[in-house]
Amino acid sequence: MIFYEPGRHKDQGFRHDPFKAFVSPRPIGWISTVDADGRTNLAPYSFFNAMSFLPPVVVFGTGTKPDGSPKDSQRNVEATGEFVCNIVSEALKEQMNETSAHLPHGDDEMAKAGLRGAACQKVRPLRVAAAPVALECRYLETVKLPSWNEPAGNYAIFGEVIGVHVDPAIVEDGLVDVTRYRPVSRLGYFDYATVTEVFQMMRPD
Ligand SMILES: Cc1cc2nc3c(=O)[nH]c(=O)nc-3n(C[C@H](O)[C@H](O)[C@H](O)COP(=O)(O)O)c2cc1C
Repeated sequence: MIFYEPGRHKDQGFRHDPFKAFVSPRPIGWISTVDADGRTNLAPYSFFNAMSFLPPVVVFGTGTKPDGSPKDSQRNVEATGEFVCNIVSEALKEQMNETSAHLPHGDDEMAKAGLRGAACQKVRPLRVAAAPVALECRYLETVKLPSWNEPAGNYAIFGEVIGVHVDPAIVEDGLVDVTRYRPVSRLGYFDYATVTEVFQMMRPD
């Protein structure tokens, strides 16, 4: 086996730290928020996952700007207590990527990417109307993580899912068929994957 300590990958001939290639595929939380003045923000986060089921809790991990100030998603979630996780279908991958551009605070990535927003039921941020699934979330807490690049920092932001929007076109006989929308996931480097086939396994007990 090759062994390396994080940060020392070059000693073993890796051109970039392959960590993100190993913890893959990672779902993408396409986070929509509003700022204190109600202005829409949208950005993808692949340090994203579900952490519990009853109730459903999701988390996304965010870095900061180099000076340690928060990215707009973190700033808005902490200011308003709400966010929406839109799920990225294969059809939306280009728009998802476009919304990762670093625009000035208050500029609307949703509109810039040509996406239409739709009202949520229990939170103020708009969901991406074309997303097959959107999770309305109530902010729970922020956990500060270690940083090797201070003053830049890393934070994990938790939210409880309090409402779920589902495109009926992905539902068959009461079950969701993910191959109908092919969720986009992040691998390492600039690599992505979609889910195109599924299989079942029953648990031993
Ligand atoms: C597929 C993808 C996944 C990303 N995942 C993350 C992530 O997990 N954490 C992070 O801090 N930035 C991530 N980014 C970069 C942010 O999307 C980018 O910094 C964005 O401008 C942040 O926007 P905001 O300031 O509106 O929150 C990702 C970008 C892409 C394209």
